[in-house]
Amino acid sequence: MNKRKTILEISAMKQQQEKISVLTAYDYPFARIMDAAGIDIILVGDSVGSVVSGYDNTLPVTMEEMIYHTRAVVRGSEQALIVTDMPFMSYQASVPEARRNAGRLVKEAGAHAVKLEGGEQMAETIRAIVDIDIPVMGHIGLTPQSIHRMGGFKVQGRQEEQARKIVADAKAVEQAGAFSMVLEGIPSSLAKEVTAAVEIPTIGIGAGADCDGQVLVIHDILGLCDKYSPKFVKRYADISSLISQGVSDYIADVKAGEFPTPDHSFK
Ligand code: KIV
Repeated sequence: MNKRKTILEISAMKQQQEKISVLTAYDYPFARIMDAAGIDIILVGDSVGSVVSGYDNTLPVTMEEMIYHTRAVVRGSEQALIVTDMPFMSYQASVPEARRNAGRLVKEAGAHAVKLEGGEQMAETIRAIVDIDIPVMGHIGLTPQSIHRMGGFKVQGRQEEQARKIVADAKAVEQAGAFSMVLEGIPSSLAKEVTAAVEIPTIGIGAGADCDGQVLVIHDILGLCDKYSPKFVKRYADISSLISQGVSDYIADVKAGEFPTPDHSFK
C-alpha cells in the first residue's frame, strides 16, 4: 500500500517547483480511479451541491453531506491527501463552532485537512483550527459561498483596490497558518503576484498558469455536467455521451428482448 501524501510533502513541492495536481471527488469509484492515477490532492468540494445534488449554488450543502461524501472518498483512496470543504455556515457563525465542525470532518469523516473560504476576515478562524492541529487550505478571490455579495460568479481583483485586498487576504491566510490556498477566478497576473508573495503553495482555478498547482471539478473535465461551461475548464473526456450511449443500448436491448441472454442467466 502506498504511503499517503502529507501536507509537508505538498509544501515541499512549491520549493521544488513541482506543480500540484488537485481534482474534486465525492464518491468511492471516482476517488479510486483518480487516486490510482496519482493525483496529489483530492478535494471533497462543496461543489458537490452543484454537480451532484443539482442545487444552483453551494450554499445548501450541509455538514452531514460533507461527512458522507468524505467517508466514501477516504475509503476509495490510498495515496492522495484528502481535503474537505467546510460548508456554508459551518464556520462563519463562531470560532468554537468552526473548530468543532473542522474536528468532525477529521474525526468522523477521515479528512486530512479542511478548506474554508475567506481572507483577512477568516484569519482568526483559520488560526483557531490550525491550533488544534487540523491543517487548513485557504480559498480567496472568487469565493462561491459569497455569491450573493459578489452578485454572481464574477472574476475578482480586476480593479486595483480589489487586487490589493486579494494580496492582503493571501498574506493573512498564510500568517494564520494555512498550509496552502486556492486562488479562484482572478486575473493571471494577480495570481502570479500572490504566488510570489507567499511561501505556501497556491492552487489555481481560473487563475492562470503561474499558480503552484491547479484544481478543477471532476464533473467539468469529464463532461458530466453541462449546466455551466466556464472558460477556465479544459474538457478531457465526454463521459455524458458514453453514458447516454450505454443507457440507450440497454433500453433498446430490453425492448427488443435481446437482454438478458442465456449468458446472463442462471441454470
Ligand atoms: O467546491 C469546490 O469544488 C471548490 C473548488 C472548485 C476549488 O472549492
